[in-house]
Amino acid sequence: MSKEHHGPSAYDDPGTPEEISRRQFMANATLTLSGIIGVTLAIPIVGSLLPQAGAGAGTWSPLDANEWKQLQSSTDKPVKIEFTLTYKDAYLPKGQTAESVWGIKVKDLEAFKKARPDIYLPNGTVKAFGPDIVTMGFVVFSPICPHLGCRFNYDDSAGKFMCPCHGSQFDGQGAHLAGPAPRGLDPLPLREQNGQAEVTWIRYQSTTPDRIVISYTS
Ligand code: FES
Repeated sequence: MSKEHHGPSAYDDPGTPEEISRRQFMANATLTLSGIIGVTLAIPIVGSLLPQAGAGAGTWSPLDANEWKQLQSSTDKPVKIEFTLTYKDAYLPKGQTAESVWGIKVKDLEAFKKARPDIYLPNGTVKAFGPDIVTMGFVVFSPICPHLGCRFNYDDSAGKFMCPCHGSQFDGQGAHLAGPAPRGLDPLPLREQNGQAEVTWIRYQSTTPDRIVISYTS
């Protein structure tokens, strides 16, 4: 049995130019409206993830004393410093895990500030959600690549931090040199307490040029 042809249906008929433009308008309006609803819902969710910046956020973990001494006696070379991170997730019991940070000695603070405009404003103050990072003449960086979260390493012969995942490179002060990372290495708060160096562990949003705090250790 051959198929009958019934001529153009209502679905096939493109309609008059006025009808076409009215339909297009309605389609655009629907897309715009769903976009507005999406953004409106997203803002409170993202906002609720952002902790208050400043003192008192997060807890402090002591760094390995020997590795801290090694950093103190180092000249230019970054030093990987281990420590035990105690964490408390909202849904899981308190736990501990081995972690590390990269420490560098800052010999010239003004040069360091100039090398890291992603951390410092032109007047020398730290940008929002950045800790006051140079403490006792040292800075520590999170070992997590700001691109997509891999662990990078320091290549002695090249004098650079290199990420094995997608090839991002950073100089000895953590400034972004090459690859897809959107910013330089992320600083972590550092302090001295009773002769011991301590850090606060912060997770920053990956892939964004601005440094957005996702969580502090708590
Ligand atoms: S995660 Fe480091 S370059 Fe992609």
